[in-house]
Amino acid sequence: MQAEKVDQMVARSAAPHTEAKPELVRFDAVSKSFGALQAVRDVSLSVREGEFLTLVGPSGCGKSTLLNMTAGLFAPTEGTVTYGGVPVEPYNQKVGYMTQSDHLLHWRTVARNIAVPLEIAKLSRGEIRDRVDELLDLVGLTGFGDHYPSELSGGMRKRCALARLLAYDPETLLFDEPFAALDAQLRLKMQMEIRRIVAQLNKTVLFVTHDLDEAVALADRCVVFSGRPGTISEVLDIPLPRERDLFSIRHNAQYVQLTARLWDEMAPSAAAGEN
Ligand SMILES: Nc1ncnc2c1ncn2[C@@H]1O[C@H](COP(=O)(O)OP(=O)(O)O)[C@@H](O)[C@H]1O
Ligand SMILES: [Mg+2]
Repeated sequence: MQAEKVDQMVARSAAPHTEAKPELVRFDAVSKSFGALQAVRDVSLSVREGEFLTLVGPSGCGKSTLLNMTAGLFAPTEGTVTYGGVPVEPYNQKVGYMTQSDHLLHWRTVARNIAVPLEIAKLSRGEIRDRVDELLDLVGLTGFGDHYPSELSGGMRKRCALARLLAYDPETLLFDEPFAALDAQLRLKMQMEIRRIVAQLNKTVLFVTHDLDEAVALADRCVVFSGRPGTISEVLDIPLPRERDLFSIRHNAQYVQLTARLWDEMAPSAAAGEN
């Protein structure tokens, strides 16, 4: 896709609150192969500061690969990935990455897990304590700083991992199916928390999921991928209120319509056995 086309696409579909914001992440005609296997093909996409973008598509269509390139874990085979106008290099220090597994250190308390990036950044002990307290409060874990990960519920572990992710204040958050293993109720709760925290801290988000409901519920914009190698099949605006109650939104007519549209979009690839 030509750069002008991407510009038009962004101008047409940026979420209202981000229309005047600068572009942060940009994929220009990006393809990525691993040996003979092409994982993504000709992806062009632009993400503005403060945008909550979800990426949805069948497994194996290259969603994680796109996040990995944003983080600078590997380079595209063709095309460019830029961050803040500069080609991404190993490693992109402006992003924080959260995956399905939380990688909490079981021998450290919650507070000391959250402190890891702060220790690496060589903050003083007092600074670390203050920042950890602030983060515990932000993610709703006040009072649990002295607990060990094994004493936490699944949702609390996610909160702890989220606090650690936020500790060094990354500008952009990359989420790769972080709630896939949670039960429906807990997932809903964590989705609400993510939207609250992201809005409060004004973060930019690229959130990968294969859950179509989640993709609509969370997003300002939803990028739909299909095929192997994965290509963008559609970019959906999600014109739901910025302040949304993710529980009641399930009954919102627009929400229902958008998820139905996504299901229609995904159905051909599911029928073709791409999952
Ligand atoms: N580091 C890698 N080395 C080799 N192949 C990979 C690597 N990462 C991903 N792939 C392959 O690229 C394709 C897309 O993978 P991935 O980005 O993980 O898809 P998704 O996240 O959408 O499920 C898959 O066929 C996968 O096996
Ligand atoms: Mg993946």
